[in-house]
Amino acid sequence: MIKFPQGFLYGSATSAAQSEGAANLDGKSENTWDFWYKEDPYKFHNLIGPEKTTDIYHNYEKDVELLEKTGHSVFRTSIGWSRLIPAMDGEVNPKAVKFYRDYFSKIKEKNITLYINLFHFDMPMYLMDIGGWTNKKTVEAYVSYAKKCFELFDDLVDGWFTFNEPIVHVQCQYMSGHHYPAEVNPQKAIQCAFYTQLASSSAIKAYREMDGKKKIGIILNLTPSYPRSDNVGDLKAAEISELFNTASFLDPSVKGYYPKELVDIIANEDLLPEYTDQDLQIIKENTIDFLGVNYYQPLRVMENPYLYKDNAMFSPGKYYMGYDMPGKRMNPYRGWEIYPKALYDIAINIRDNYGNIEWLVTENGMGVEDEERFRKDGQIQDDYRIEFFKEHLYWLSKAIEEGANCKGYQVWTFIDCWSWLNAYKNRYGLVELDLKTGERKIKKSGEWFYELRKNNGFEL
Ligand code: BG6
Repeated sequence: MIKFPQGFLYGSATSAAQSEGAANLDGKSENTWDFWYKEDPYKFHNLIGPEKTTDIYHNYEKDVELLEKTGHSVFRTSIGWSRLIPAMDGEVNPKAVKFYRDYFSKIKEKNITLYINLFHFDMPMYLMDIGGWTNKKTVEAYVSYAKKCFELFDDLVDGWFTFNEPIVHVQCQYMSGHHYPAEVNPQKAIQCAFYTQLASSSAIKAYREMDGKKKIGIILNLTPSYPRSDNVGDLKAAEISELFNTASFLDPSVKGYYPKELVDIIANEDLLPEYTDQDLQIIKENTIDFLGVNYYQPLRVMENPYLYKDNAMFSPGKYYMGYDMPGKRMNPYRGWEIYPKALYDIAINIRDNYGNIEWLVTENGMGVEDEERFRKDGQIQDDYRIEFFKEHLYWLSKAIEEGANCKGYQVWTFIDCWSWLNAYKNRYGLVELDLKTGERKIKKSGEWFYELRKNNGFEL
């Protein structure tokens, strides 16, 4: 039997844009996803856009019952910025306030710990039009928005997160083309990363100035970089990959400053962002209380053996390359490696190098295509998902036994939800969503999760 400490939290996470639906209703304005879908629907799997998604907006009363039935003691979602503040004038949308207060109150009535995240890839279009995170005015707008959220909802919230996986919107907006505006522009990527960090630290500052008493933190996707071999070039590649992919947000968020080695690389590339001493002071003085860790897949890296042309555009790929390790275990639907031990390695890294700060797993899960083929007696028998959870929980429990300060485990996700470009291709939920009827049905993993929480552990 694998057991967890008393009070360990069990639950799931979702985000506003992926679960609420009602994208064009009740005063909400467009975010980048609504806009992009309108402009280029062919980018989206099966042409399904964000306007409807899981429709929690119209179903939250019943959906909260399902939180209880699947054993949740903690839940995380986000606030849709363009729903709460639909325009540049900063006016609050009263219908959004009513929705969020009702939704959150229902969750609290069930005695479920509620964590609220302020930004999950869904930039209001009126701010994207002025350059999004590459413009400092967006940082100011974000701080006003965060303050409004603290004023309006703090009594219902048990902990705040400023951002979900900020490195993802940096890479996807300005390096890889997966998020709007899908530009390839390293200078903008670095400015976007810096202003995102500044926004996070500034929101924490604002919360403390308002005398906020709840914990406030950031959610990072920590993807340990494993070197191909012990050769010096591969080890160096893994070190630099860690700087870009982990330390870039973890260090300023937890320690209050950027690693010198990372700053040196960026300076050498002549790509330092615009910043002021006051910005650095804000980052230094406003570190997080607790950390959310999303974990799906590790990174495997090797040295880049090729020479870069003198005038080649900057890419972290200059310093390390992805390594396609033979025999790695894959989730073929998402194309991500499955490597549960990484969760242990993450925990030990936080314990030994980040002051053993309090943290919890804020996302971990397995997206599978065509789950219909696993239906038996009317229910999706997702044993593969249960195995995935068990294996990750095993490594997590081992790390906790060895002193890791992890307080909970949230899976991705509660009810099957819409995924950025993949729409509903891969299903992640503890609860199945029938896309045609909107009906919800608990999967086998949802029942297993209920038992997990009830027993505060599971039979290996
Ligand atoms: C996380 C994000 O990175 O991964 C979620 O926080 C996302 O928003 C989840 O949905 C799963 O990834 P995907 O691309 O399969 O939806």
